[in-house]
Amino acid sequence: MGNIVLDRNNRLEGRLIVITGAAGGIGAEVARQAVAEGARVIVSDVREKDGRALAVELGTNARFIQHDVTSEQEWSDMAQTCLAEGGVHGLVNNAGIYDPRLIVDTDAAFFERNMRINQLGTFLGIRFVEQAAAPPGASIVNASSLAGLRGTKGIAYTATKWAVRGMTKTAAVELAPRNIRANSIHPAFIDTPMLAVMAREHFEARAKSIPLGRAGTADDVTRLVLFLLSDESAFITGAEIAIDGGLAAS
Ligand SMILES: NC(=O)c1ccc[n+]([C@@H]2O[C@H](COP(=O)([O-])OP(=O)(O)OC[C@H]3O[C@@H](n4cnc5c(N)ncnc54)[C@H](O)[C@@H]3O)[C@@H](O)[C@H]2O)c1
Repeated sequence: MGNIVLDRNNRLEGRLIVITGAAGGIGAEVARQAVAEGARVIVSDVREKDGRALAVELGTNARFIQHDVTSEQEWSDMAQTCLAEGGVHGLVNNAGIYDPRLIVDTDAAFFERNMRINQLGTFLGIRFVEQAAAPPGASIVNASSLAGLRGTKGIAYTATKWAVRGMTKTAAVELAPRNIRANSIHPAFIDTPMLAVMAREHFEARAKSIPLGRAGTADDVTRLVLFLLSDESAFITGAEIAIDGGLAAS
């Protein structure tokens, strides 16, 4: 891949953006680049050590809030924090878990755990945007997956990612009259800690079979997320955007 120099346009100048699951992986990179584009960022995650370290790295425009996306109370506290600062301008519903089990190995408790974090967590986030006085122009970016476009291994994960795709469309339509947008992104094979469940050799071999011939990076996904958070995407809502090196097309 050639080196692409990002043009910093301060596209998120002065905006308050909440990113869930931002202690590592894609969320952490979104937080870094959002701050570089002028945003004030809330790094939200259940993992305190890495979340705090990232906020320190990013300086005064970032802070860490320990936050479990399955907790209504903690979303309500997050809304109060944002209200006190004049409202939230963007939310990246990024927190998620991935453990692709066969149908026969999926019991109700495991299915419900996936649903609570990946699906209920995303719903509570969408509702939070309403509770946190989001102004016209606010934007919600929901992390679905290639698994939200296809039948993929891991029935519980796949179910939640299709749900995220569907909820995004309802949110887009319901919030459009107030000019609040919602879009889903559909990554695959992004090289983050989430894919550590795959053996490295297997990961490398699968990456080569992607049409563009490589795995994606957190930076690849972040560029899309920042575009969707910013006014550059002002007429895009309810869209589902694959970011997968061509896998969904193949
Ligand atoms: N990496 C990929 O290839 C890929 C592909 C498709 C979709 N995605 C999606 O992108 C998103 C980010 O993935 P990633 O690769 O950066 O994964 P990651 O595992 O690096 O990051 C996920 C983060 O979510 C946090 N989290 C888990 N449960 C939480 C909870 N209850 N409350 C708050 N935070 C919680 C984790 O602590 C972690 O920091 C996920 O929704 C994932 O499903 C990733």
